[in-house]
Amino acid sequence: MIPLGLEGKTILVTGASSGIGAACALECSRSGANVVITGRNGERLQQTMDALDGNRNKQVLCDLTLEDELNLLIDQLPKLDGIVLCAGINQTLPLAFLSRKKVDKIFNTNFFSQVELLRLLIKNKLLNEGASIVAMSSIGGTASFTLGAAAYGASKAALLSWMKSAARELAPKVRVNCIAPGQVNTPMNVSSNITEEQYQAYQDSIPMKRFGEPEEIAYLAVFLLSDAAKWIAGSVMTIDGGTTL
Ligand SMILES: NC(=O)c1ccc[n+]([C@@H]2O[C@H](COP(=O)([O-])OP(=O)(O)OC[C@H]3O[C@@H](n4cnc5c(N)ncnc54)[C@H](OP(=O)(O)O)[C@@H]3O)[C@@H](O)[C@H]2O)c1
Repeated sequence: MIPLGLEGKTILVTGASSGIGAACALECSRSGANVVITGRNGERLQQTMDALDGNRNKQVLCDLTLEDELNLLIDQLPKLDGIVLCAGINQTLPLAFLSRKKVDKIFNTNFFSQVELLRLLIKNKLLNEGASIVAMSSIGGTASFTLGAAAYGASKAALLSWMKSAARELAPKVRVNCIAPGQVNTPMNVSSNITEEQYQAYQDSIPMKRFGEPEEIAYLAVFLLSDAAKWIAGSVMTIDGGTTL
């Protein structure tokens, strides 16, 4: 049997109130894990909570960029066997609009809050031996540099570089890896700025002829969390329907 299950593991999923994070939480629970979910929007976080399998899950509202709320989250966490870092924001910003304030906001969410969360987890000894950390980067940080995506891409590249150092520093006790998705159908990607024709043309340009679905990213996250991936450390797994070929 390939050890793909997560039975007996406790997994923290950030950004679980929407999109990829919600799908990761759901698939973790379906794979047997107890899941701690976190996000900012209480109504949507509750919807994810209601969809989870099992009765040992927990939800904690938290804006990860706020020190007080992050500390309250840490206080409520059990010992963890895995983390999926999905919280993130995107904003299309041409270079002339890249004010320091806007770049800070993107970096605070996509990079600094993850760095701080991991620091506190380590400091408070909340990671069990054998734990697996999965960070959600993006092909926008590795290979696909589209117009207006400079700040977002840079934040995802920073996340990826940080993950590699973390993978080296925390091995062999803890594994750290990144997923770099292409375009996935989530609220983050709902944009009124492009026409239906442009939307279709973008999908047609992808070798697999479509955007991804959140659960397709979640299946990879579950694999990386599982013991089937126990020799994978410091990897960046691209999952983009061939977009970057
Ligand atoms: N969708 C894509 O095409 C794509 C591609 C590559 C990478 N990614 C990455 O995948 C991750 C998930 O994206 P998604 O598409 O699922 O986006 P999404 O549907 O917009 O969900 C983003 C999640 O991040 C949470 N979040 C944002 N700011 C936060 C903060 N300050 N504190 C705590 N939580 C915060 C949101 O919480 P609330 O809604 O509760 O505020 C929400 O749960 C992101 O890191 C994104 O950059 C997405």
